[in-house]
Amino acid sequence: MTDKNYILENPDTGEKFFLKKDLGSIGPSVLDVTSIYSKQGIFTFDPGFAATASCKSDITYIDGENGILMYRGYPIEVLAKSSSFLEVCFLLLNGELPNQDELNNYEKLISDNSNLDKTVLNTLKGFKNDAHPMSILSAMLNSMAAFYHDSIDINKEDQRNTFNTNIISQVPTAAAAAFRHITNKSFLGPDKSLGYCENILKMFFGEKDSEFKFDPISSEALNLLLILHADHEQNCSTSTVRMSGSSGVNPYAAISAGVTALWGPAHGGANEAVINMLDEIGSIDEIDTYVDKAKDKNDPFRLMGFGHRVYKNYDPRAAIIREMCHKVLEQLGEKNSPTLDKAIKLEEIALKDEYFIEKNLYPNVDFYSGIIYQAIGIPKSMFTVIFAIARCAGWLAHWNEMIKDPLTRIGRPRQLYTGKRKRNYLPIKDRR
Ligand code: SDX
Repeated sequence: MTDKNYILENPDTGEKFFLKKDLGSIGPSVLDVTSIYSKQGIFTFDPGFAATASCKSDITYIDGENGILMYRGYPIEVLAKSSSFLEVCFLLLNGELPNQDELNNYEKLISDNSNLDKTVLNTLKGFKNDAHPMSILSAMLNSMAAFYHDSIDINKEDQRNTFNTNIISQVPTAAAAAFRHITNKSFLGPDKSLGYCENILKMFFGEKDSEFKFDPISSEALNLLLILHADHEQNCSTSTVRMSGSSGVNPYAAISAGVTALWGPAHGGANEAVINMLDEIGSIDEIDTYVDKAKDKNDPFRLMGFGHRVYKNYDPRAAIIREMCHKVLEQLGEKNSPTLDKAIKLEEIALKDEYFIEKNLYPNVDFYSGIIYQAIGIPKSMFTVIFAIARCAGWLAHWNEMIKDPLTRIGRPRQLYTGKRKRNYLPIKDRR
């Protein structure tokens, strides 16, 4: 592939003009349209940004046609099999895998900073017990924006590093505080003798003054899910963090914006919506009815956990999670999970259906993850909160890359105006 410029012709004036083509290290090239308005007085149009590159990035690569996902050049399958989530956080934030000393130091840094100040914890008092925990998490992050004054100067590297550490170490504590609040349990702070995932499980399910026993498969599954959800290129919530961060806002507030965007059922909220859908489907015999509903243009129902803006092939994360589903259910003695049976049957029917084949709709990361969360005791309303814990790694990596990118300007898209032309103001007495 060459980096030859595109030559375009203005159909009104016949004038020919060039648009520069930029090549990446792999994947699609881009047509640089930054000068098209100044040169030709015209905008590009791409609702949903399906064909628009918003930035240059070294962090994550996705090949949607071939079902490929890599963090900093490492295939997700290798990281899922060989890494810990904190090792992946280090990789995403620093660009390289840590050596043993670096990993030991990072694990200690994160553990040492995992306490949440009581001022931030007091945010909980503003929420009833029936609040959705994503609302609480978003608020607690904005509370951190107000509390911390030593890690909000985005132009100072040491303050950015403190911010990065605070997010990775304290978001799980905030998530656990939200969970304990909605389940009417008193807050249980971090146990610094435990690993990252074991500590999360204890903060969720442990009891004060009693030893916490958990099945190792639960922390193994949580570690895998956190790795698989850690980053995914310029998805909706990451783009929201970049967009809000481009205004120079307090970085905790930018992450809070990411939490809000992730919550939507078309995005990170789909994992909760999948289980609701499988519960609504009732029995396996009902599946065909729901597949027909999903295909009916007049019915807003969609198969949650299916389809993806980028993957037009099987989401590599879904394949890994489906395998872990079987392992978790087997080891936790829930081999005969009606929910998993329904999910597998639904996938089987959909993948043979002409509609799904023609539109390249496959299970995505959210289709099977909720089954594992439920099996390890995490309630539906907390599924997207766990997704947010993981995606903090990606949000931070992209926020830092955006802050340091010399091309970064405040994000400010334009529009195709289709409204009224100029018209006269009528005094109210003259209006019909
Ligand atoms: C995540 O971007 C990321 O990387 C996200 C994510 C990440 O890690 O950050 O991967 C995480 O958000 C995964 C996606 C979770 N969402 C869901 O599972 C919700 C169900 N899926 C859909 O809502 C949908 O597939 C989206 C939102 C995921 C993608 O939407 P697009 O790219 O805008 O696709 P589209 O709506 O234009 O659909 C194309 C066609 C349409 O039919 P036509 O208008 O062409 O006739 O496919 C149909 C859609 O109606 N379609 C579906 C469908 N998804 C798309 N039909 C039935 N069921 C579905 N799930």
